[in-house]
Amino acid sequence: MSIENKVEKVLFTREDINSKNCELGKQITKDYEGGKLLVVPLLKGSFIFAADLVREIEMPTRIEFMTTSSYGDSHESSGQVCITQDLNFDLEEYDILVVDDICDSGHTMKSVVEHLRNKGAKTVKSCVLLDKPSRRAVEYDADYVGYTVPDLFIVGYGLNYGDYYRNIPYIFAFVDKEEV
Ligand code: IMP
Ligand code: MG
Repeated sequence: MSIENKVEKVLFTREDINSKNCELGKQITKDYEGGKLLVVPLLKGSFIFAADLVREIEMPTRIEFMTTSSYGDSHESSGQVCITQDLNFDLEEYDILVVDDICDSGHTMKSVVEHLRNKGAKTVKSCVLLDKPSRRAVEYDADYVGYTVPDLFIVGYGLNYGDYYRNIPYIFAFVDKEEV
């Protein structure tokens, strides 16, 4: 996607996102009661979402990061998910919640969840702030979803275009002028 001649369309304000995080955090706190929660944010896209989400989880929580990449230079998932930073400790006792910014083709979440199950985690579930089900290339549904979004290239709040825009505190899409 090129952003030439495109304009910004705000999809979710900071306030929208805050209340969604609150809602997700409450549900997760309730669902994991009595468990041994390990939150695993996928870098880099989820770093802002995860930082806000974990502060809405009201129970003892371990947080460890993984890094995945599948995009290379293009914005189409290659389908080949590469884990460049893994978890290197015994997962047996943990209820893992993998956190990502967005589920698009589904390749990333599906392969990370399978990978952590194969490594022996007690349970593995997933949480994404955004879900683009219309783009799915593999069957996968996240367990916790903030918002379902249409097939637009989405930026801000951790999501990047090129190497930029992750620091924008709200979520927007680049659209044609007529679509605003
Ligand atoms: P998937 O493997 O195709 O589901 O892609 C997941 C990864 O692609 C996410 O972790 C994002 O980093 C990236 N991604 C997918 N769609 C978008 C988008 O609209 N904006 C920014 N990044 C995206
Ligand atoms: Mg990502």
